[in-house]
Amino acid sequence: MRFDEDFLWGTATASYQIEGAVKEDGRGTSIWDTFSHTPGKVLHGDTGDIACDHYHRLEKDLDLMAELGLKAYRFSVAWPRIQPDGSGAVNQAGLDFYRRLVDGLKARSIEPMLTLYHWDLPQKLEDQGGWTNRETSECFAEYAGIVYDALSEDVKFWITLNEPWVAAWLGHGYGLHAPGHRDPAKALAATHHLLLGHGLAMQRMRSARDDNRLGVTFNLHPALPGRDREADREAARRVDGQANRLYLDPVFKGSYPEDILSFYKERGVEAPPIHDGDLETISAPIDFLGVNYYFRHTIRDAPEEEPSQEPFSDLNARGIVPHAAEKTAMGWPVDPDGLTEILMRIKEEYGDIPIYITENGRAVHDYVDPEGGVDDEERISYLNSHFRAAHAAMEQGVDLRGYMVWSFLDNFEWAEGYSKRFGLVHVEYGTQQRIPKASARWYADVIQHRGLETV
Ligand code: FCB
Repeated sequence: MRFDEDFLWGTATASYQIEGAVKEDGRGTSIWDTFSHTPGKVLHGDTGDIACDHYHRLEKDLDLMAELGLKAYRFSVAWPRIQPDGSGAVNQAGLDFYRRLVDGLKARSIEPMLTLYHWDLPQKLEDQGGWTNRETSECFAEYAGIVYDALSEDVKFWITLNEPWVAAWLGHGYGLHAPGHRDPAKALAATHHLLLGHGLAMQRMRSARDDNRLGVTFNLHPALPGRDREADREAARRVDGQANRLYLDPVFKGSYPEDILSFYKERGVEAPPIHDGDLETISAPIDFLGVNYYFRHTIRDAPEEEPSQEPFSDLNARGIVPHAAEKTAMGWPVDPDGLTEILMRIKEEYGDIPIYITENGRAVHDYVDPEGGVDDEERISYLNSHFRAAHAAMEQGVDLRGYMVWSFLDNFEWAEGYSKRFGLVHVEYGTQQRIPKASARWYADVIQHRGLETV
């Protein structure tokens, strides 16, 4: 099973999950600093204060990426390193760090893929309403322009937002992520302002130079009915609307899904503050779509459900994990067919857009064995099946151009803290020692041979 020579194999990560050094070189505070330091929000009270200490270990981490033969590296820029207050004054030391990172990648022939927003909003902007405030979209475009002007010579791939559904709904609807609000009206407003920020940032970047590839990354989850019942089919349709169409439709079709807007309206939830012209801004063409795929939702109707922190409770729906499914350490089902399904659906419903898988991977209960290795067979088998699922979509005409495995290093898994390990490389947090797992060697082999054995 071969992939083209120029298929972009890489790994993905995010600033707050690995960098540490949260008070260094002028970095401002982000909503994730505040949230992780609030008791009860993150498992075991873990924070990103040190994380993988990547900020200080940059060169060695880059050497390890080169050793594994990665062709691309997706990372995110911490907005509060660039603009500590979220707007205005620029912190040169912050830009210098990402300059060193980009130079280090290029020196090792690794293609940088840069995400502008992977959830670390400057706290100062949150204090003024954060993503529920329209001005944040404008601030985001200003910040995007600053980073673009500094790095657009050397970075070809630009992603405005990572997973706006998570930022909006886990952050504002269900309270599981920073900033921790629990209000569907805020989640809808945040959705709109995130997407508007994406559109405004695209304009700002395109006007500076238009020879790079600009896109956005969504976490997409097909939603299946849990039982063969009309009520479950409808619930799955609502979940699909909130989780997928609420993001795909405005970007590709210039409209929000009517069924979801009316569902919330009928329940007295304030509509998102859409101004004339916003949807034109949001739907300006993108050069590629980034897809993060982890699993399909299996959904039951849950009319008795009180809105709670449980995702989709406000939609009178509940996600279940089928008993028969193999589960990852996150409790997520292993479901490679969902990847083929979502890639085909994008092509069929939204058109022939170049796609990059910008995240896919699994958490494993890894441990270092007495010989000092980490034998993560489950991760190898997971990646193997998902690469095949991606290949199947390509054979049916999907224009898939690259694959970023989540993640290079074990890291701070948001509300789960350090309890969940997603890395190809094991991190001993006490010593910061890096140990490439069996999956890292296996992946290096896939990259080198441009594919997989057919059996
Ligand atoms: C995605 C996030 C990423 C990581 C993986 C496991 O939702 O984008 O930061 O936490 O899940």
